[in-house]
Amino acid sequence: MHSFERITVIGAGTIGMSWAALFLASGRYVTLCDPDKNIESKTLTFIQNASSALQTLGWPKAGNTERLTFDADPVSAVKNTSFIQESIPERITLKHQLYRDIEAHLTTDAIVATSTSGLGLSQLQQGFTNPSRLILAHPFNPPHLIPLVELMGNQLTNMTALATAEHFYQSLGKQTIRLNKEIPGHIANRLQAALWRECIHLLKEGVASLEDIDKAVAHGPGLRWAALGPSSLFHLGGGEQGIEGFCKHIGPPMQTWWDDLGDAKFDSQTIESLRQGMTAINEKMSDEQLRHKRDTLIVDFLKSINSLKGV
Ligand SMILES: NC(=O)c1ccc[n+]([C@@H]2O[C@H](COP(=O)([O-])OP(=O)(O)OC[C@H]3O[C@@H](n4cnc5c(N)ncnc54)[C@H](O)[C@@H]3O)[C@@H](O)[C@H]2O)c1
Repeated sequence: MHSFERITVIGAGTIGMSWAALFLASGRYVTLCDPDKNIESKTLTFIQNASSALQTLGWPKAGNTERLTFDADPVSAVKNTSFIQESIPERITLKHQLYRDIEAHLTTDAIVATSTSGLGLSQLQQGFTNPSRLILAHPFNPPHLIPLVELMGNQLTNMTALATAEHFYQSLGKQTIRLNKEIPGHIANRLQAALWRECIHLLKEGVASLEDIDKAVAHGPGLRWAALGPSSLFHLGGGEQGIEGFCKHIGPPMQTWWDDLGDAKFDSQTIESLRQGMTAINEKMSDEQLRHKRDTLIVDFLKSINSLKGV
């Protein structure tokens, strides 16, 4: 299996910087390609800030930027690398233009992995004359911490390249899943969109405050979901009869809840209700405190997951 000693990250915004921090922490040489004039200082600050969490998670080289180079020209940035993590803005014309610019300069075995959150692989493939090397590798923000990477190839994809990339991400501690077919928003974003739609519906209906709805997720199902997915949890909840017993027992009431689930639209009234709800939350906890709580708990939880490996 390929170890990808040199990696090029194209687009060093929210996602690209975070990928770069992880790739560097794993000891790779990383070239960052981004036209932003301030990219060096932004990236170095980000890598510095991310280093303590990455070190805690078992990457002693985190924060070391000796192997990092910047190259604003995508053509030269891809020349000596066999793995490219494309993380430029979510605009199809921009991505197509980049692919057209770099295709002739890629090494023969180069894999181009796109971080796209919402664009379809088949649409993106139109930017290549030979799209077999393009794979979808959608991370969950921030990729240097959150393990999930959604992978996809299709009938035009070199499936060996996809398997090689899968192995590479797994070697970085990522939990990879494969999409068998194209769907807007892939899987994880659709799941969180479905839950948040109901959160907004409950808020609009006056069922509870935004603070209590957030609490209901974080301190109840959210905590369990971080350990196991909902189907495995319900299977355990079904006793000796497992998932089948659960469906027979809880299925009928759950069907009435499904039938009653609400809808949500980003209209001005909804946005105002969310703003007011967040203001009330911020009266108890500033954004900085919320951020600290999120980052500390995520790192602690990941540490626990690492310590359970092999169990
Ligand atoms: N933000 C998220 O939560 C998130 C999560 C997962 C995946 N993604 C996906 O990752 C990709 C990047 O998203 P982001 O949020 O990091 O965007 P961003 O706007 O934060 O960063 C994009 C970066 O790309 C640079 N750029 C623009 N044109 C470029 C070009 N032609 N060549 C090289 N660099 C270029 C910009 O200067 C900027 O630094 C998108 O496809 C997005 O869907 C985003």
